[in-house]
Amino acid sequence: MTPDTMLPPPLLDALQALLGPRGLLTEHADIAPWLADWRGLYQGASPAILRPGSTEELAQAVRLCAAAGVPMVPMGGNTSMVGGATPDESGRQVIVSLARLNRIRALDPLDMTLVAEAGVVLKTAQDAAAEAGCLFPLSLGAEGTATIGGVLSTNAGGNTTVRYGNARELMLGLEVVLPDGGVIHGLRRLRKDNTGYALRHLFVGAEGTLGFITAAALRMYPRAREQEVAFCAVGSEDAALSLFRRFRDRDEGAVRAFEYMSGTGVDLAVRHIEGIAWPLGARADHCVLLDLASSRPQGGLRALAESVLEEALDAGEVLDAVIAESDAQRAALWRIRDEHPEAQKREGASVKNDVSVPVSRVPELIRRSSVALTALIPGSRPVPFGHMGDGNIHMNLEQPEAMDPAVFLARAHDIMDCVNAIVRDLEGSFSAEHGIGRLKTDMMEDWRGGAELGAMRAIKSALDPLGLMNPGKVLPGPAS
Ligand code: MLT
Ligand code: ZN
Repeated sequence: MTPDTMLPPPLLDALQALLGPRGLLTEHADIAPWLADWRGLYQGASPAILRPGSTEELAQAVRLCAAAGVPMVPMGGNTSMVGGATPDESGRQVIVSLARLNRIRALDPLDMTLVAEAGVVLKTAQDAAAEAGCLFPLSLGAEGTATIGGVLSTNAGGNTTVRYGNARELMLGLEVVLPDGGVIHGLRRLRKDNTGYALRHLFVGAEGTLGFITAAALRMYPRAREQEVAFCAVGSEDAALSLFRRFRDRDEGAVRAFEYMSGTGVDLAVRHIEGIAWPLGARADHCVLLDLASSRPQGGLRALAESVLEEALDAGEVLDAVIAESDAQRAALWRIRDEHPEAQKREGASVKNDVSVPVSRVPELIRRSSVALTALIPGSRPVPFGHMGDGNIHMNLEQPEAMDPAVFLARAHDIMDCVNAIVRDLEGSFSAEHGIGRLKTDMMEDWRGGAELGAMRAIKSALDPLGLMNPGKVLPGPAS
């Protein structure tokens, strides 16, 4: 450890006394795995990881760090796509891991609520709900690693937003440690609670810049008793959207996920991920993964899937389709979609454009961006995929096969600007579900500048006047 990555000795002593050996890690070997983000975009430095065992311990630790002027970076499962949980290079920022706050505090199948601490892994929360015969519907590729604190702090979306909304819509109440060590005890499990400013919503999507979420009261749903998953080859982006519309018009409540994949993306999954193969007789340029679910035991989903797919086949929109016959087949079809990020990573360097547009404009987004990107970087490969049903497409770009990855990545901001210009024209957003983190702070002025950014800065300085909570994330410039 170099001297500039040491904690001030009085703070170190106080934290040691408060947190004990399990709660404070200062050995470089323990800290090192948490200094880089999942995508490998950033490499930070930090003198310590704080691992409080309770909300009260965290509150006291925050008070100590605040008094010493030490910045704090919250850490969940470290699956941020935008460097949201990585400390900067200064070596001054401590990492605050919520990993030991990992209890399900309560679960009530009558109220349909689940109270989980921030360090509970998303999959664990889903499993706990399932054991009680219920459903916690938030679902995303990183669910085996991402935590409740992380998915709320980023207002994660994922695959089921089309039906259940984002993390925010699943949140009823929060417990939060504020930048001065105060604690909001807001774990109310109420559907109606109009009692002044809805402070809980400030912390969802704030990426830890206003305080640290320590626990959440979450909304559950009845479990699915019937499910149908189909993989479809469609004729075009428009045909994919038209298929979505057909299902929505026939039974909106049945659509649990509606995911678009390009042939290029499926090709990469087949090439790099063991056990994945094209599920249809022929390769296709445009594909859809459709997931229907119902809490009714005889929901008629098979008949619905077959009849709508048949109509779409007759209309020439669907070229071929397969409906899974078992849980194993359903999982195998989902894997093709969920392994897209990993397959892209293995293929080489890629730039992610996590954008959203009104659902009706998704085909235009994909088409125009693909043309613009290949004109910008000849030989590059657009890999659009994602949540067509809610308008959020990952308009990602894979490097040209022969190009040096570093040369390609040096163009990252040109690539993002290129897509964002189209997104702006289509009245969309430059960050749909991954958040701002460190990667996109420089876009905030342009996209959210004026009164909107001014209000965000005012909130930040009111709650965190010393700027110690996850500095350098979300807000650009000095006020971050
Ligand atoms: C996903 O939906 O798989 C991720 O959010 C997208 C990505 O890796 O770009
Ligand atoms: Zn996504």
